[in-house]
Amino acid sequence: MVRVILSSGNTNKIKEIKEILSAFDVEIVSKDEIGFGTLEVQEDGDTLEDNAMKKAKELWNHTGGIVIADDTGLFVKSLDGSPGVHSARYAGENASYADNNKLILEEMKNINKENREAYFKTIIVVIDLQGKSHISEGICKGEIAFSSSGKNGFGYDPLFIPEGFSNTFAELTDYEKNSISHRGRAVRGLESIFKDILR
Ligand code: IMP
Repeated sequence: MVRVILSSGNTNKIKEIKEILSAFDVEIVSKDEIGFGTLEVQEDGDTLEDNAMKKAKELWNHTGGIVIADDTGLFVKSLDGSPGVHSARYAGENASYADNNKLILEEMKNINKENREAYFKTIIVVIDLQGKSHISEGICKGEIAFSSSGKNGFGYDPLFIPEGFSNTFAELTDYEKNSISHRGRAVRGLESIFKDILR
């Protein structure tokens, strides 16, 4: 059995990845579980790809096994693609989800319904036992609401209305969100990468 080490300690992400990879003969552990919880990299890349690759390489250099790292951002068209790669800290270094959401609504208060397009993008980088990297990308298109609504999910979920829906991500169940979300799509892409790696 091959060990797969996840850079994230987020229990929801771990659960989703475990489900998708359950068909493979792999043992999935988070870096925290194997004593590398303090291994942090500065997420100062210009793109999600740069940051995910940086996290994956750092973990690969320190551990043995296949590693997985991810990075996600919300890209708003009328804000020239912001918050983008800075999604976690858009309103400042210690900003809460509520602070970030408030800033976006404020910046978009004069933007009409037709110009509120946005998308989430997740990049997952896998580095295999030979040190070769593989990338899975997931995108979910939608628009930014005029106010915050819903209690589920996290981050920008109360602001984001996915295409084809009239509710925000925070008003959908986890199951509904995962079936269309950027992260759900990127995680499902791991299946073909693992088929290739473990062939
Ligand atoms: P991370 O790369 O998964 O840590 O995501 C960076 C930031 O993007 C988070 O701190 C959230 O603010 C935001 N974010 C990521 N995924 C989602 C999502 O599925 N819904 C809403 N916000 C998200």
